[in-house]
Amino acid sequence: MARKIVLTSGKGGVGKTTVCANLGMQLAKLGFRVVLIDVDIGLNNLDVVMGVEDRVIFDITDAIMGRCRPKQALVQDKNISSLYVMPSSAAYNRTNIMGEHIKNVIEQLDSSFDYILIDCPAGVEAGFHRAVFPANEAIIVVTPHLSSIRDADKVIGLLGDYNIEYKGLVVNRVRGDLLLNGEMMTVENIVRALNLPLLGVIPEDDAIGLSNQGGRVQSIESARAFTLLSENIHNGSKKIFDCTFKYRGILGYIKRNIKKHV
Ligand SMILES: Nc1ncnc2c1ncn2[C@@H]1O[C@H](COP(=O)(O)OP(=O)(O)O)[C@@H](O)[C@H]1O
Ligand SMILES: [Mg+2]
Repeated sequence: MARKIVLTSGKGGVGKTTVCANLGMQLAKLGFRVVLIDVDIGLNNLDVVMGVEDRVIFDITDAIMGRCRPKQALVQDKNISSLYVMPSSAAYNRTNIMGEHIKNVIEQLDSSFDYILIDCPAGVEAGFHRAVFPANEAIIVVTPHLSSIRDADKVIGLLGDYNIEYKGLVVNRVRGDLLLNGEMMTVENIVRALNLPLLGVIPEDDAIGLSNQGGRVQSIESARAFTLLSENIHNGSKKIFDCTFKYRGILGYIKRNIKKHV
């Protein structure tokens, strides 16, 4: 049976899709069979981030409507053979799709995969319900900003109404230079505020932000951070990437100050 993990946040633009794509890649590289499910119906994003949009034939709504079998709606990754994406449709009257429909599709994939990662849309309404309903674990993605923390807190409360057995936190877009200068909320404070186990910290990475394939191009630092995250999720270790490392010492001090003045 697969672990079914939803990536959620309440707030949009905090990195759910980026974390979903990169975590999926790392878990697949560890040898697991992974499928990423895009439940952001009407705003397909994950297939674009994963660079498979040109190869989409069927999508999740086709699988729901019985126009294809769920496995026919999977697109295999070009580089990692055990990684698949189930794209959402770009245009559909999403009010017709219920959490039960998504759950039914996911149940048909359950025995063929080790991990089913569900990319949740922003908000806390119907789209949130559709994505959370089929999951039994949740990763809450936050950035070190008050609005993100506040939305995450709301989402954590709402998750109490679902069959979620385990919840953990990923803090994304952390800037080591700002942390050392005391200009960014610390990860410890975020963990204390939200009171959930910390699964990973991902640094702010210009290579992610600038690449036209979303999460696929990264620096060595964020690749390492995603590797640690995948290991923590898989084997329960607690190795957290240190975003401040490259800004320590005399060279780090110079880097920090250069960054401040550009
Ligand atoms: N660690 C990061 N460093 C730099 N840019 C990031 C990082 N994580 C996400 N982004 C960028 O932020 C934007 C929103 O990310 P996305 O994953 O689409 O958020 P969400 O799915 O929560 O709406 C994207 O342009 C993405 O490339
Ligand atoms: Mg997204």
